[in-house]
Amino acid sequence: MAKNNLKKAQYYRHPEQPSLIYNIKAPWEKVISKPPVWLSNKFPPLSAQKKFKFLGHRLISPIAIAAGPASGKIWTDFYFKMGFGMVIQKTRRTVPRKSNKEPNIAIVHQENPVSKPHLEDSLSASINPKAWENYKSMTNSFGNPSSDILTWAKELPEQRKVMKDGQILTCSVTATTPEDRQGHSADAQIIETASDLLIGATAAVLGGADIIELNLACPNVTENPQEGEMFQNIKLVNYVLSEFKRRFPKVPVGVKFGVFKSKEQMKKVFYAAGDNLNYVSGINALKMTVLAIDGSDILPGRRTSGVCGIADQEIALEHTKWAAEIREEEGLKYEILGGGGIIEPQDVDKFLNTGADMVQIAAAVLANPLLAYEYRLMKS
Ligand SMILES: Cc1cc2nc3c(=O)[nH]c(=O)nc-3n(C[C@H](O)[C@H](O)[C@H](O)COP(=O)(O)O)c2cc1C
Repeated sequence: MAKNNLKKAQYYRHPEQPSLIYNIKAPWEKVISKPPVWLSNKFPPLSAQKKFKFLGHRLISPIAIAAGPASGKIWTDFYFKMGFGMVIQKTRRTVPRKSNKEPNIAIVHQENPVSKPHLEDSLSASINPKAWENYKSMTNSFGNPSSDILTWAKELPEQRKVMKDGQILTCSVTATTPEDRQGHSADAQIIETASDLLIGATAAVLGGADIIELNLACPNVTENPQEGEMFQNIKLVNYVLSEFKRRFPKVPVGVKFGVFKSKEQMKKVFYAAGDNLNYVSGINALKMTVLAIDGSDILPGRRTSGVCGIADQEIALEHTKWAAEIREEEGLKYEILGGGGIIEPQDVDKFLNTGADMVQIAAAVLANPLLAYEYRLMKS
């Protein structure tokens, strides 16, 4: 027994639990149609206290499941039952898209954070889930797969049913930009992209999502790589947020960002968004070259993919610091959902102490879904 009569985390973990709850060799659509591989089938008790706050909600944990590890009711239920304060539904689209070909996840042989000058380096990886235990980095490449909008919007109210007091559901949406728009002006493209984001966001609001996250930074959309850089487009961010707020003034909305070239560039985007930006969310996975040890493709047809886990921590903390400084310097009001490279409960405090209001975790929860509980134990 730990303090407060809470059992040790290992009580909830089967001795033969595999390294990951996600079968990285199977196609994504198949993986999410079944529950996570959690052999014990045991879940820790949820906290009765709502000690944490995010965007006006009082929450049982300051830890969110980042957009990614949870897609559909089976998987969002699992993380709610594990006691996370917020679960972000993996990014949805208005237009159906299949997942990139499996494998979509590989373990990256990188045990330390990557620093900015090394973003152009090539990393090695393997499809061996056990390697996670040594390295704590992975890469992912799904391409923001999505069912059609009607199917996922109808599922959102079902996803809410398992939530307890002190837990909230966020839905991440992205835009699907048509492939050939060469004749169109930049402004026309912005309006078109923003309109698509607004359709997705509207469906998510009507489905009952508490918060909307605009994923403007996916590193893995092979047919439209510019979708990964939308967060840098000041006009787009400004326009889509103001149009969202015109319709849903009371629904909090945030933007998922990737690597900014500089603090100055981040400031330009966040400042232009002004009070329409309720929170900033980062950092998305780092777009890097990741290959098999022999130099061949590790993820078929994709030489670059989104590196996450410990590899992200240094850049993620720097971005959290910048976001907190900019908020202070410019008198802005957004909250910060920080993360990227959180592996251990202690890492949560690194982000909270750097200015994040709440944190998010993706890669590490695929190995250790007890992280919210472990953080609670650490603090009790
Ligand atoms: C399996 C997996 C799927 C992901 N899918 C998405 C996604 O759909 N949308 C998104 O914004 N980010 C996605 N991400 C990125 C995470 O939300 C997060 O920003 C990134 O992985 C860094 O955090 P981490 O180091 O805790 O993994 C995904 C990450 C993983 C590991």
